[in-house]
Amino acid sequence: MSMNSFGHLFRVTTWGESHGPALGCVVDGCPPGVPLAESDIQPWLDARRPGQSRFTTQRQEADRVEILSGTFEGVTTGTPIALQIRNTDQRSKDYGDIAAKFRPGHADITYHLKYGLRDYRGGGRSSARETAARVAAGGVARRVLAELVPGLAVRGALVQVGDRAIDRTAWDWEAVPRNPFWCPDAGAAEAWAGYLDGLRKSGNSVGAIVEVQAAGVPAGLGAPVYAKLDTEIAAALMSINAVKGVEIGAGFASAALTGSENADEIFMGDAGPRYSSNHAGGILGGISTGQDIVARFAVKPTSSILTPRRTVTTAGAETEIVTKGRHDPCVGIRAVPVGEAMLACVLLDQLLLDRGQTGSVRGRIG
Ligand SMILES: Cc1cc2nc3c(=O)[nH]c(=O)nc-3n(C[C@H](O)[C@H](O)[C@H](O)COP(=O)(O)O)c2cc1C
Repeated sequence: MSMNSFGHLFRVTTWGESHGPALGCVVDGCPPGVPLAESDIQPWLDARRPGQSRFTTQRQEADRVEILSGTFEGVTTGTPIALQIRNTDQRSKDYGDIAAKFRPGHADITYHLKYGLRDYRGGGRSSARETAARVAAGGVARRVLAELVPGLAVRGALVQVGDRAIDRTAWDWEAVPRNPFWCPDAGAAEAWAGYLDGLRKSGNSVGAIVEVQAAGVPAGLGAPVYAKLDTEIAAALMSINAVKGVEIGAGFASAALTGSENADEIFMGDAGPRYSSNHAGGILGGISTGQDIVARFAVKPTSSILTPRRTVTTAGAETEIVTKGRHDPCVGIRAVPVGEAMLACVLLDQLLLDRGQTGSVRGRIG
């Protein structure tokens, strides 16, 4: 079974565990002739890197990416690109207590039930260390997108922590890198700091909602019906650790709208059709409209917490567990760069598929 890959033409396979010597990915299907250096990928890994504020795990990983193959004289060759990130700050003794106990809310019990054994050090393959490889692949996707669709921009932000949502009228993209939460509402970010400090000190955690957007996406990406662009994006975001819900555009809120409210009315603008709103999140019939792609995903609270929880041992005895070690009080924060990376990979994959099927064919309006 090979379930460690995603994408069709731009295909990413990740490998590695939390406490192994390294992790990484193989990016296959990357077009040739695209300038690519480690410095194109590193900034995105730096954004995901742990230990950057008191609100994320204090595990210190440099997360330095190395390109092992697939480039020659600074450009991609069209052959597989292997990317490696070494693990440097493993502390396996922190996890001795969970060797024979299952952390509630984590993957310990299902890995045991499925495989009959598990690498309990830091959660092994189920650890979100794996998401570093996705972010590295996303860096490659962004570099290629910059060549093929100049102006296409993929961005993400944290829009809710626990039950505390941002004020969307205060949305400011420039605020996003200026606070430790990737929050577009500076006021909400300040309030979250106090709330998360309290949770962290009490050894608890909380969930969050991340929003990812892509602007400058050409109309026509995606396909009916089993490979709708919505389906591809939802699958990619849902595959991120701890994600329990995904919505596109108005998403679940569209259930409360009437047809007249939900309709994104169409007008004729100078540069083609324009829309009165974007409840569709930039996708109709599984195909991009040219409006911004908008998706949100819900991230559950970190399951490794200091609050004692009831569980069982592998021998079947009931017991309690407290998860020591270094954990994020809100994993949603570090999921922002991961969501962006997944969206970038899906959009490049869809662009290459579209190029393959339709070439330069496009319908005209006006
Ligand atoms: C960026 C990121 C960091 C994470 N860090 C932790 C962590 O420190 N402790 C923890 O228990 N879970 C953490 N998780 C979540 C677990 O990896 C996840 O809950 C686990 O693999 C079980 O998978 P599931 O929640 O998707 O069912 C993190 C998730 C993400 C996206």
